Amino acid sequence: MANENTADYGPLELLFGTWKGDKGTDVSPEPDDDETSPYYETIIFERGGDLDNAATQVLAIARYHLIVKRKSNDEIIHDQVGYWLWDKENKTIMHSFTIPRGMAVLTTGKLHDAQWNDKKATFEVKAGKDSGIVQTDFMLRNAKTLEFTQKLTVSQTELSYSQTTALDIYGRKMDHTDENTLTKV
Ligand code: HEM
Repeated sequence: MANENTADYGPLELLFGTWKGDKGTDVSPEPDDDETSPYYETIIFERGGDLDNAATQVLAIARYHLIVKRKSNDEIIHDQVGYWLWDKENKTIMHSFTIPRGMAVLTTGKLHDAQWNDKKATFEVKAGKDSGIVQTDFMLRNAKTLEFTQKLTVSQTELSYSQTTALDIYGRKMDHTDENTLTKV
């Protein structure tokens, strides 16, 4: 692994720092119906340096932790740790993360030159249906994630995202959606 201060982070460079936002909206499953919760959120991104796989694929690493709380009662409703990875050679972005429900997700996407510069970047990534989602037997049986898609746009001052987690739960299929806009603190 290289020194975290000398790695070439490319479009990930804009992510580093602490972001806060209180414009979040979550739509999630409940036994009887879907529930909508306004939320606030903190995301902390840190430099992870870079590494190579099989001596050929170089990946730059942005490591993060995010916490989401429901506005109405300040309860934590989502906790997530993960990495955004940039493969400069292949113009590929990856987002891998885990959430404490017994599941992990690996998404990938292409990042063409037109989608980023040193002031703004837009990442679009996806996981499922055949790969990229690992979940416990319990989740497979009771709260199965079928697909995950995310679009995230970051500038020097603002980060916004929208994402859809396609679920099979309570005997029905539903789109568990989240979106928020955060500013750099
Ligand atoms: C800002 C992001 C997110 C928020 C605020 C959020 C919030 C919630 C909430 C409130 C529930 C209802 C159950 C409960 O109250 O605990 C839920 C359920 C669930 N979420 Fe999320 N979630 C987010 C992102 C994700 C992501 C990225 C995934 C997976 C890729 C995910 C997977 C699930 C699953 C599988 C359930 C069903 C479990 C159950 O309700 O029993 N969520 N989420």
